[in-house]
Amino acid sequence: MKFFLDTANVEDIRKASELGVVDGVTTNPTLIAKEGRAQKEIIKEIAKIMKGPISIEGNGCTCGEILAEAEEFAKWAPNAVVKIPMTKEGMKAVRVLEKKGIRTNVTLVFSANQALIAAKAGASFVSPFIGRLDDNGQIGMGLVQDIVQIYKNYGFKTEIIVASIRHPIHVLEAAKLGAHIATVPAKVLESMWCHPLTEAGIKRFCEDFKKTAKL
Ligand code: E4P
Repeated sequence: MKFFLDTANVEDIRKASELGVVDGVTTNPTLIAKEGRAQKEIIKEIAKIMKGPISIEGNGCTCGEILAEAEEFAKWAPNAVVKIPMTKEGMKAVRVLEKKGIRTNVTLVFSANQALIAAKAGASFVSPFIGRLDDNGQIGMGLVQDIVQIYKNYGFKTEIIVASIRHPIHVLEAAKLGAHIATVPAKVLESMWCHPLTEAGIKRFCEDFKKTAKL
């Protein structure tokens, strides 16, 4: 399973990359806005650190607008992936871009049928937003389960990025279902490393090691 970091914070990406467990980055306009800097500047900095896919989102609505943004993003980073909302115009753009070798990530996916259409359009990635479904009283992970099954049934190559992750149990459930990728906020990734019993065990072993070290 691959982990992407769901952030536009360059420092968080740098720190997580040093640990060697991050395979890519996803950004969106809200995450970029949080940083209070220009999108292009941020993405170029991320590209210096991250060699895996970097999802970049614009605000084009028509196929033509999305294609123009995509051409621009591709200049910022060789590993740019264009994040495209699940719309009819968006799926037209997905077909064109994938044929040209520019990878796409279909975002704001909330149903299995939307994910099916994204795969038929030839998207490299699809992003079901599970946390937002949970927030809305639907079981987000049920959507992931459906998409995994449907893609398996037909051998679609589109990779599933489980997105809108809120806590480590979401990552665990996504992994059990066999989703290809989880895109996680830095604080969720951090919590995945820790267990109080690990810390207590290290402390105890250190103390006991010292007892015999001088014998
Ligand atoms: C995914 O690519 C999105 O950037 C992200 O996961 C959205 O998460 P949110 O629902 O926490 O905004």
